[in-house]
Amino acid sequence: MDSPSAATDEASAARGPGLTRGIHHLALNTDDMKATIDFVAGVLGMPLIHALKVPPGLGTGPKNRGNPPFEQIRHYFFDMGGDSTLAYFEIPKGAKAAADRDAIGGMQHVAFSVTARKFAAIQRRLAAHGIPFDGPIPVMPGMFSIYFYDPVNGTRLEACCQPDQGDAQAVVPACAQNRADALAELRSLHDEPAWLARVTSAIPDSVR
Ligand SMILES: [Fe+2]
Repeated sequence: MDSPSAATDEASAARGPGLTRGIHHLALNTDDMKATIDFVAGVLGMPLIHALKVPPGLGTGPKNRGNPPFEQIRHYFFDMGGDSTLAYFEIPKGAKAAADRDAIGGMQHVAFSVTARKFAAIQRRLAAHGIPFDGPIPVMPGMFSIYFYDPVNGTRLEACCQPDQGDAQAVVPACAQNRADALAELRSLHDEPAWLARVTSAIPDSVR
C-alpha cells in the first residue's frame, strides 16, 4: 500500500529539479581491464581518470559492501562526460559467467546522451576501429540513436542524439508524453482511478 507521502514525493519530484542530477557512476564488470581501457578510452573517447585496486578485506572479508567478492581487484573510472563516470571492476578470468543482458534486473543496455558533434564523432571512431553499429535510427521525434556492443565485455551500448539541439541536449523534455496517451497505456496495466491519477500527476495534459 503506498503512503500519502509517497504520492507527495512523486509529485514534488516531478515539479522540482528532480530527485538526482543524474548518474554519479555506472559500475560494470569486465574480465580484461586492459582491453576495456583500449575500448572505453581509446575507441569511445572517455578518458581514464582513476585507477585503483579495491583495498584488502573488502572483497571476501566482513567489510564487503556489495562490491564483487574478490580480493584486491582492479576498479577503474572513466569520465563519460556530464560530470558522470563509467566504472569497471575486473573480475578474475573464469570466475563469473558472462551476463545475460535480458535477465530480470539485469542491465539491458546503456544509452549515452551525446551532442550533435559528438554523435558524428563517435560514429567515425567506431568505423575507424571496425566496430559495427546500427543506425542512426529514429527512436522518437527528432531523436536518433546508434546501437553497438562493447567488443570486450558484450555490453549493449547506445548513443542518443537530438541533432537539432546541438550542444545542449535536453533529454527529459524529449521523452514527455501527454496524459491521454499515458493513461491509455497505463489502464492496460492497472485500471484503478486513484492509482492512475497518482502515477500520472507529473504528466502534462499536452506536450508541444
Ligand atoms: Fe535505449
